[in-house]
Amino acid sequence: MKISIMSITEAHAKPFHACLDSVAKEQKYLGQSAAPPIDKVASFVRENVQNDHPQFVAIDGERVVGWCDAIPHWADALKHRAGLGMGVISDYRGQGIGKQLLRACLEKAMTKGIRRIDLEVRADNEIAIALYEKFGFAHEGRKSLGLCHKGIYYEAIQMGLVFPDVP
Ligand SMILES: CC(C)(COP(=O)(O)OP(=O)(O)OC[C@H]1O[C@@H](n2cnc3c(N)ncnc32)[C@H](O)[C@@H]1OP(=O)(O)O)[C@@H](O)C(=O)NCCC(=O)NCCS
Repeated sequence: MKISIMSITEAHAKPFHACLDSVAKEQKYLGQSAAPPIDKVASFVRENVQNDHPQFVAIDGERVVGWCDAIPHWADALKHRAGLGMGVISDYRGQGIGKQLLRACLEKAMTKGIRRIDLEVRADNEIAIALYEKFGFAHEGRKSLGLCHKGIYYEAIQMGLVFPDVP
């Protein structure tokens, strides 16, 4: 299986929507339990492409099988910070795709002058936490009632990476 990692383009909007929807519908990891409507996702992608924001996708043929984005805050005093989001379709996990996506995204974020990456992760998501730790993310706090999946509340961990701490 040959997976390519590349910057997202507008042509990826539909398969990215399907990928996001698949991970969201697991209701274990993300804030959303389904992808937003396709027109919203398409305009999110368009804005990222137009502004050259870091957003990478993993491609298998015509499919988007994973993504990672680090979108800078819009407010002036927070523009040096980006919020990270990522996911890989379940069948494709554990093959190094997440690591490649995260590395590509962080490298680009650094070149764009972003100084700090923020994220929140469900406290029992050990695989994602191990991945973030590997890239130097620090544990910065815990939020009780951080996420509610299928009616059950989970703690969330806040993690942050301050450049230039990327290996
Ligand atoms: C977190 C996620 C993006 C990682 O992507 P992936 O392609 O599976 O990860 P990789 O194969 O690149 O592995 C990266 C690291 O994750 C950890 N990891 C991966 N699979 C693991 C497993 N089965 N058990 C324990 N750790 C594991 C390891 O630290 C691994 O690094 P290593 O290969 O050097 O040991 C993916 O598991 C995923 O999509 N999860 C659901 C969505 C999600 O959690 N998104 C993040 C929300 S904050």
